[in-house]
Amino acid sequence: MGINFFYYEKYREACKKAADLIKSQITLKPSSVLGLATGSTSVGIYEKLIQYYKDNEVNFSKCKSFNLDEYVGLEENNFQSFHYYMYENLFNHINMSKENINIPDGNARDVENYCKMYDEKIEELGGIDIQLLGIGQNGHIGFNEPGDCFKLYTHKEELKESTIQNNARFFKSIGDVPKSAITMGLFTIFKAKKIIIMAAGEEKKEIFD
Ligand code: F6R
Repeated sequence: MGINFFYYEKYREACKKAADLIKSQITLKPSSVLGLATGSTSVGIYEKLIQYYKDNEVNFSKCKSFNLDEYVGLEENNFQSFHYYMYENLFNHINMSKENINIPDGNARDVENYCKMYDEKIEELGGIDIQLLGIGQNGHIGFNEPGDCFKLYTHKEELKESTIQNNARFFKSIGDVPKSAITMGLFTIFKAKKIIIMAAGEEKKEIFD
């Protein structure tokens, strides 16, 4: 597998590159399965995709999507949930139908079974065609925290203190940050046919060194 690194001075230019790759994927295969991420890095990519949609350059009507993760214990309409983020930053502005959108349910009762079903659904649709990833300051992908062993499939992950502290910027107080999340596992993620991983800001530089 070839890996290409692109370095951009400006965040906006990197977002355009990522959005262009997603747009090309959908043009080549209108029924593409998209793997999507939340976080501040992705916001500019979604802004660009919304612009392309408004300019009739991309049509999401046949696309399906799977989000990487969701906090455990937040209601979908909680503005800090990844559900809320996705509708606010992308889905409310494009023509993807709700039944084609998949975001892990952070309130699933039978977590193990739910996670299994999430992976199976991805498989049934032929796997993820293009996966968008950010990377946490401690190197996490999705919410797969760095450590000695990684889980391969979708699962519940206990968040590291560093992640809780880093994500506290989105909450009223650190005590409000959920301690766990449902996340796709690394095998599920890296099985995607194409992967875009984007990092922005000086503080992320050392992850790649
Ligand atoms: C988000 C996700 C996380 C973020 C990472 C970077 O769905 O899975 O791995 O991509 O925490 O977040 P930002 O972009 O806010 O630095």
